[in-house]
Amino acid sequence: MEKLRIQGGRRLTGEVRVGGAKNAALPELVASLLTDEPLRLTNVPAVRDVATIVRLLEHLGVAVERGDATARAQLGTLEGTEAPYDLVKTMRASFLVLGPLLARTGRARVSLPGGCAIGARPVDQHLAALARLGVDLRVEEGYVVAEADRLRGGEVVFDTPTVGGTEHVMMAAALADGTTTLRNAAREPEVADLAVLLNAMGADVEGAGSDTIVIRGVRELGGAEHEILPDRIEAGTYVIAGALCGDSLRITGCRPSDFEAVLDKVAETGADLEEGADSVRVTARPPHESVDARTQPHPGFPTDMQAQYMVLMTQAEGTSIITETIFENRFMHVPELNRMGAEIAVDGHSAIVRGPRKLGGARVMATDLRASASLVLAALAADGETVIDRLYHLDRGYESLVGKLRGAGAKVERFRE
Ligand code: EPZ
Repeated sequence: MEKLRIQGGRRLTGEVRVGGAKNAALPELVASLLTDEPLRLTNVPAVRDVATIVRLLEHLGVAVERGDATARAQLGTLEGTEAPYDLVKTMRASFLVLGPLLARTGRARVSLPGGCAIGARPVDQHLAALARLGVDLRVEEGYVVAEADRLRGGEVVFDTPTVGGTEHVMMAAALADGTTTLRNAAREPEVADLAVLLNAMGADVEGAGSDTIVIRGVRELGGAEHEILPDRIEAGTYVIAGALCGDSLRITGCRPSDFEAVLDKVAETGADLEEGADSVRVTARPPHESVDARTQPHPGFPTDMQAQYMVLMTQAEGTSIITETIFENRFMHVPELNRMGAEIAVDGHSAIVRGPRKLGGARVMATDLRASASLVLAALAADGETVIDRLYHLDRGYESLVGKLRGAGAKVERFRE
């Protein structure tokens, strides 16, 4: 089993370059099902989740050529309209193939994603929205079996702004008869980036990035070239690393306007931040202020930054309250951080963080993608050596983390035990 060993207590300086957004790459690769022509994507992150979606697409008949941060994806003959449990269970975003398969063939059989470490994560909003587009759906043996002669435009009001639901229906509606309006849609930058790709393919999507999106269906979509937006969560993770132990650490290749809520919060804690158009320079300025945070859909404070921000609060003067409003079980990093010397108590949807507490190296276990990132940050700030187990969680969404941290002066290595 691969693990990570980190010697804490070193200053981070120099440059860390951010890759493309995992959470845009996944739906954008799925969009290759919507056309017979090639999609050429650049700034594709080299992370395990991308490899997983590529495996599913190849299973469905898409030929995918990967290059250095590039992917050329072209649907040949559709090999089938079934997405098997074995592929979908490893990554929920796989469920997004349902809509595009329906739009192209009028039928699909896709495994329900099942539970997840951070929450139940149902897909009821996806299914309710597809039904509004005229799809007949039933669940059989853990699979969604769906049929529709032709998708037809309709009015969809999401109960909650769902990122995956918005992306899913946007792709299906792009090839529907008539106009679809999505209300209370998710406003995440990844949703807007997918709309840029769809419009480059010949779709007619308006309003992505706002809570109301209008999609006028077209008969067919073509190929396109598209550069995936930078990963704002990867960038935010390195900003926290800089706030903890940075000395003029530059995070480049990012888009600060996509994660302003994170930058504002970190600035409030007293860190020295300098924003550029595509970079942020961060210097740690302890003592850090304790500042409460509450996760929200975009443009609020992202849930995918909650665990990382909590580490900074373990080093802040006083008590802070971090409230998780998106997922019901996203505090699994807390017991591991407490094993490193933090003092965090969980009360329902809130974590009460008392600081500053000296962190010490320990053997810890990753439980999900962002929890594992918080353990890396804690290890960088801790005295001594930390060993992080279950590295596969981290590899799902962080590209060349060891290389990037080493480039900034960290003492970190992967090893097998
Ligand atoms: C996306 O997940 C991201 N994943 C998640 O990032 C991120 O945490 C999440 O959005 C919120 O920002 C990808 O883009 C691949 P949602 P998604 O649908 O689309 C509830 C990471 O670390 N809901 O916006 O699955 C749901 O349970 C990952 O990179 C329903 O109730 O999230 C949750 O409470 C983790 N019914 C809330 O809405 C539905 O049909 C938001 O979920 C759909 C969602």
